Amino acid sequence: MNPSSNQRPPATVLFIFGGSGDLNLRKLTPALYNLFIDEYMPEQFAVVGLGRSDYSDESFRERLLEGVQSFSRRKNGPDDAWKTFSPAITYMKMDAGDAASYSMLTDFVKTKEQEWGGMPNVIFYLAVAPQLVPEIATSLGKLEWCGDTSHVRIVVEKPFGHDLKTAKELNSLLRSLFAEEQIYRIDHYLGKQTVQNILALRFANSLFEPIWNRQYVEHIQITAAETVGLEGRGGYYEESGALRDMIQNHLLQVLCMVATEVPTTFEANEVRNKTADVLHAIRRIAPDQVNSVAVRGQYGPGKKGDKDIPGYREEKGVDPDSATETFAAVKLYVDNWRWENVPFYLRTGKTLPEKMTTITIQFKKAPDYAFPDEAGEHWQSNRLIIGIQPDMDIRLRFQAKRPGQSMILDPVEMVFSYKTAYEGQEPEAYETLLLDVMLGDATLFMRADQVEAAWEVVTPILEAWGSQKPDFPNYTPGSWGPQAAMDLIENDGFHWMTE
Ligand code: BG6
Repeated sequence: MNPSSNQRPPATVLFIFGGSGDLNLRKLTPALYNLFIDEYMPEQFAVVGLGRSDYSDESFRERLLEGVQSFSRRKNGPDDAWKTFSPAITYMKMDAGDAASYSMLTDFVKTKEQEWGGMPNVIFYLAVAPQLVPEIATSLGKLEWCGDTSHVRIVVEKPFGHDLKTAKELNSLLRSLFAEEQIYRIDHYLGKQTVQNILALRFANSLFEPIWNRQYVEHIQITAAETVGLEGRGGYYEESGALRDMIQNHLLQVLCMVATEVPTTFEANEVRNKTADVLHAIRRIAPDQVNSVAVRGQYGPGKKGDKDIPGYREEKGVDPDSATETFAAVKLYVDNWRWENVPFYLRTGKTLPEKMTTITIQFKKAPDYAFPDEAGEHWQSNRLIIGIQPDMDIRLRFQAKRPGQSMILDPVEMVFSYKTAYEGQEPEAYETLLLDVMLGDATLFMRADQVEAAWEVVTPILEAWGSQKPDFPNYTPGSWGPQAAMDLIENDGFHWMTE
C-alpha cells in the first residue's frame, strides 16, 4: 500500500527462482514492466531469472517479452519502453538443489554493490513448487549476508503449507533463517485495488461504519466464482482443492478486510494485528458440525454452449476416483462484539457460470408497517455490493418510489464504478505487491500468525472431509455448484446473490 504517490524504492536486485516458469511469464515480469513504465521501479535495478532451463540473457528476454505481449495489461508500452527496461533482466542457469551454486548470487550482488556504490536491497522471489521452498530457503539462509534485515527480503508464494502442521513447520524453518520482517508471504487478493478499497470505504467515510455491525447487518456473502476448470494444473490442484486453494487464503483475507476493526494507523503490524484478531475470533467448527456448515462439490462432465467439458476426474493429472473438491461453500461466524451471530457465507468454485468476485453486505429489513401491502411487492432490504472483479464497483441498493400516483416501491441502485469514475487502467495486484516488497511495506502480506490462524479455521473441515468419502461428481459445469450449497444458505432463510 504505497502510502505516498510515486515513491521510488532504493536500488534493488530481484532474484526470481522459477524464472522460466509460468508465474514469472504471466504475472511478475508484466508487473515489473508496468511499474517501470509508470516510473515506480528503482533508478537502479536488476532482475535475475534463475532456473534449470537453458537460456541466454537474450533468449530469456525474448521469452519474457512474449509473456508481456500475451498477459500484461499493456501489451505494448510506449516506444522503446521494453528496450530500455529489458537490459536489466538477466538469466542464470542454476540448480536450486546445488548448495554450492548459491555463491553465484553473492558474486552478482557484490558486482552490483560496486557498480552502484552501495549495498542494494536484495529480494528473493520463490516462484517455485512448494516442495522446493524449504531447500532453497535453507541454502539462502546460509549466505552470510542474508541476515541483513534492512536489505534482504524473501517472498514466498502460496500454497503456504498444506495444512496447519506443515504451515507451522514452514514458518518455523523460515524464521530460523530470516527475521519475520524479511519474510513476505503473498496473497495476491490483498493486492487487488478493490480489496484495498474496502478499507477506504469503511474508514474514510462516516456513512458506513456506524451501521457496519450486528445491529444493522443481517448477513454477509463473499463469492469468488470462476468459469475456468483446471487449466492444466491437475498435479497441483489434486493436492489442494477449493478450500485450500481459495478459502484458506484469499476469501478469508477478504473476510478480514470486511470484518476488521479500524486500525489506529496503516502501519503494517497494526493492520495485521487487527486482521489477525478477526481470524482468531472466527468460531471454531466442531467436528460434528462440519456437514451443517460446509459443502463441497466436484464438477462432472458437461457442456459449455456446444463445447464438451470433461469432468474433473477426466482432466490430465487427476485421479479417476478423485475426492478433491472443485467447489466449496462455508458458513462462518466471527465471535466478537461487532459481529455476534451475523453469518458470513463464503463460496468458490471452478466451472461456474460467471467469473466474478463479489462481497454482499445484506442489511436487516426496515420496518415497513406504514406502507400498504401492494407498495412493497418488490421490497428488498438494503444491500451493499462490492464488486472485486471483473466489475470493480460499489453498489448501494435501496427502495425508491416508482414514478406515478401510487406509492409503489422498487429497489434501485447508486453505483460507483472505477471504470467511469477514473480514467486509465488500474494496476494489477502483482504490481502493488512487488512495489510494496521493494519499498519494504509488509501491510498487504501475511504474517506467520495470520497464516496459521487461517489454517486453524479450515482444519476441522479438512479433517472431516478427509475422513468421509464424498459423493462426487455432484454438479455440472455452468451451474452454481451442488444443491447442498443452495440448502446451506436457504435453510437460514437467505439465498446466494449474483447481482
Ligand atoms: C489462485 C488459485 O491463487 O487464484 C487459482 O490458485 C485461482 O486456482 C486464482 O484461479 C484466482 O485468482 P483471480 O485473481 O483470477 O481471482
